[in-house]
Amino acid sequence: MTSFVPSSRLLLLPLLRSSHRAVLGEKWAVPIRGIKTTTTAWFVSSDPKSHRSAMPRVLITGGTDGIGREAALKLAAENHEITISGRDSKKAKDVIEQCQAKFNNTPRFIQTDLSLENEVIKFANQVADEQYDVCILNAGVMNPKPGRTREDREATMMTNLISSYMIAHKIIDKRSDEQRPLHFVFSTSILVKFHNATPLGLRFFNPQKVSDWQKSLIPSDVSGAGKYAISKIGLATLSSSISLANIPNVTSTSVHPGTVYTNIMSNLPARQQLYIKLARPFCTSLSDAGANLVRAAKNPLPAGKFYQADKAAKLPNFVYSESSIAAFEEVFEQFKIRN
Ligand SMILES: NC(=O)c1ccc[n+]([C@@H]2O[C@H](COP(=O)([O-])OP(=O)(O)OC[C@H]3O[C@@H](n4cnc5c(N)ncnc54)[C@H](OP(=O)(O)O)[C@@H]3O)[C@@H](O)[C@H]2O)c1
Repeated sequence: MTSFVPSSRLLLLPLLRSSHRAVLGEKWAVPIRGIKTTTTAWFVSSDPKSHRSAMPRVLITGGTDGIGREAALKLAAENHEITISGRDSKKAKDVIEQCQAKFNNTPRFIQTDLSLENEVIKFANQVADEQYDVCILNAGVMNPKPGRTREDREATMMTNLISSYMIAHKIIDKRSDEQRPLHFVFSTSILVKFHNATPLGLRFFNPQKVSDWQKSLIPSDVSGAGKYAISKIGLATLSSSISLANIPNVTSTSVHPGTVYTNIMSNLPARQQLYIKLARPFCTSLSDAGANLVRAAKNPLPAGKFYQADKAAKLPNFVYSESSIAAFEEVFEQFKIRN
């Protein structure tokens, strides 16, 4: 199969590594105003005997509900081979049935609880063996109850961040073909921009301090908004650390998909839920949030940028500075799956 590159995209070619250029696919690039995005360099097989699909194969954690589900439906409509994961098989069945009925596409489902280490290890090994082209690590919780997992870990940090760290590194470790592009998308939050903006400029969390990362992992009975914000900063830092590692043909982008009322907010106090529901007309629609996740999958951003809904924006320096990444790695390295 030959690949065709539209002339507008030729302008971006000097920005790409030569190995990227060799495998540049034509399907998915949507230029973002004023920002140099690269096109996800899909593997396009010219070998008819190859088992690889010409379309990118996409993994979406948290694809059973909310924004991940919406992204799964959009990708299914484009005929991608997708795998979704989550805990709830009933929700998964509904996504699969919708995809079959509307698009004649049957996603796979892997049932897993990402708050539990053993399940994360099993899941990470399985998806690493399956060699996806795009991994959208999107599963997340906010204010989970109880605040500690059955294994006595900090529940938000384990589900949102530690599991993503374990999965992403296992996928990188087991990558069998360096020529094949691999792209990660991490669902972060707009909170990465605002968490430091306390009235007196006080920092409740400094990502450059090893001790602050260590403290964030200590479980307590309440796992609240602060932990959610830290887990989302960590995901943006994780994404930056992968980008900056310059692994051949590996890209990584974090995205704030938009603010949408979904099940993730079901543990917020009733009054906060009411405010968010009232603000719905001014928030992102679920459909747009799904589209924002898909955009991040198709258009990797350079390190230091993230998607703030549908626009590329600058990440705060503390998310991807050398000292923040060093502190983050010093603490999280322990979570790499060794075998
Ligand atoms: N909604 C927003 O305004 C907003 C804003 C910024 C960022 N985000 C981020 O976007 C992502 C998706 O959020 P959403 O609003 O779509 O939430 P949601 O509707 O509650 O969906 C969360 C997804 O994560 C999965 N999940 C939760 N806990 C899990 C666990 N322990 N193990 C495995 N899977 C688990 C759920 O699957 P099961 O239920 O099947 O387990 C579900 O598919 C999250 O990372 C969130 O932080 C959301």
